Order: sequence, then structure tokens, then C-alpha cells
Amino acid sequence: MAKIWYLGHSCFQLEIDDVRIVTDPFITDNPLAKSIKLSDIGADIILVTHGHGDHIGDLVELANQTQAKVVCNYEISLWLEAQGYSNHHAMNHCGTYSNRGVDFKVVPAMHSSSFPDGKYAGNPLGFVINGQYDCLYYAGDTGLTMEMKLIKERFELTGALLPIGDTYTMGATDAAIAATFCGAKKVVGMHYDSFEIIEIDHEEARDAFRDKGVELFLPEVGEILNF
Ligand code: NI
Ligand code: MN
Repeated sequence: MAKIWYLGHSCFQLEIDDVRIVTDPFITDNPLAKSIKLSDIGADIILVTHGHGDHIGDLVELANQTQAKVVCNYEISLWLEAQGYSNHHAMNHCGTYSNRGVDFKVVPAMHSSSFPDGKYAGNPLGFVINGQYDCLYYAGDTGLTMEMKLIKERFELTGALLPIGDTYTMGATDAAIAATFCGAKKVVGMHYDSFEIIEIDHEEARDAFRDKGVELFLPEVGEILNF
């Protein structure tokens, strides 16, 4: 069973096969994550989907604290190297990286990617995290795309973590379709409510998923789900 600790926005600590995986670290500047202490977070792997500030805000600090392997695109790995952090693994679309029995497959995300200073930060990524008992799709920032159907061809998901905040990503109605495309019956929502422009109606979001026969989880920041 995967353990999913919600740290706000698109940041989670996932435990799959005893491997601790942190996604898109963004705590310090997230107004909803004031209760989370960066120093409490452990990680063996940090997954980074793209270079926007709400995905790499605490990346360098958390990497230095944990000495985790940072799995990201090539351009972000160069940026990390320039900041003096060398424990990274550079990837691009459709590649797979294996670490301690867990496979990390990069899948496309329909978004953009630049660093906070405006410099190019490579392609935006999503990941399928495939362990011995659990297989989770972590979508990053993306809209609904036909590519998601390929995930169902390749994997049997136990669940998906999908953005539902609209404006910068898909909203709940499209995300519910995304869940059917990738074959996820259980979805954890992310990338919503952190800022005014992505605030959502939780009941409407749950209804959109229920209409497609998918259960939507909206954990509180700091809550742990056993998935
Ligand atoms: Ni983004
Ligand atoms: Mn974002």
C-alpha cells in the first residue's frame, strides 16, 4: 500500500516499497503549507516536473538536506549542477529510471517550463511511479491529452495524482476524463486553492469525478492517505 503525505499544492511525500519520494517541493512560499516544516521531510528521491517556482521553490534546500537523487529533465539537472548539487538523474520524455526496485517512467505533460528568472527549463514532464505493489501516475502541471490513454496501455494504475485547479492546468471536469484515459479509479487532487486564481469548489470537483465513476480525494495539507 502506498502512503501519501500531502504537503500542499503539488508537493507530496510518497512511500512506495519503502522508498520515500517527494514531488515538486514547494512549501516555504505556499500560504497553505505554513504547518509543514521542511526539516521534517525525508526523501530518497525527489521528482521535479518543470522549472516554475511553485514546483522548485524548496528544491535546492530539500536536496541539500536529504541528499536525495533528484530526477528531472536535463535542463533542470544543469541548473542544479550550477548550484553545486550533483546527485541528479537527467531524463526526457518516455525514458525510465529505476532505483531500489521502483521504476520512474517519464510521460508527456502539456504545459510550459521556465525558471523563475525566465530562462528555459526544458520540457515539462509527468511520471508514472511503478513499484512492486503500487503504480501511481503523478501528472505534474498538464492539460487533458490523448497521451494519457497510453498510460492505460502500459500500466495498471492503483491511483493518480492530477491537477484540478484550472487556469494553469486542467480543471476537475477535464481531470475526471484524464482519470478514465489513464485508468485510475482513485485520484488525489493537486494544484488547487494555493492561490486565489486556482481556488475551486470542492463539491463540484467531487461530483465531476463521481460522474465518471472515479473517487476524488482532497486531503488537508499535512494529512496522510493510505492508498
Ligand atoms: Ni507550472
Ligand atoms: Mn504550477
